[in-house]
Amino acid sequence: MNNSSSLLPLAQTAASRAHCPYSHFPVGAAILSTAGNLYAGCNVENISFPEGSCAETGAIAAMIAGGDRTIAEILIYAPAADLITPCGGCRQRIAEFSTPDTLIHLAGSNGIEQTLTLEQLLPGRFK
Ligand code: THU
Repeated sequence: MNNSSSLLPLAQTAASRAHCPYSHFPVGAAILSTAGNLYAGCNVENISFPEGSCAETGAIAAMIAGGDRTIAEILIYAPAADLITPCGGCRQRIAEFSTPDTLIHLAGSNGIEQTLTLEQLLPGRFK
């Protein structure tokens, strides 16, 4: 069974593979599903800027394609930041595949800086 200690190295590897020639801001996200499986994603940018996708979006897509539906823990890592704070769209996306027990770890160049619950990440969200 996988555990959360794998999340930071997985997100770091994903961030190292990010495609971000416009922002130069790589992001990696790693998910431990409630089924015990690990998934990762990175941001992928496109010359038509609105078409880019966030690391969290990629990791969630990988989880869904892998057959899981529920995030036990998600770690978001940005090497160029002290602390990465997910965009509004990703907060909603994470929420839709989480439970009140889901943990959201936010990491920067010095590792995990904050761990939030869903209610802390997106209070009063649309359901
Ligand atoms: N980005 C993410 O991948 N996740 C976040 O939580 C915030 C921002 C990406 C989008 C874009 O490719 C780059 O970081 C700069 O905004």
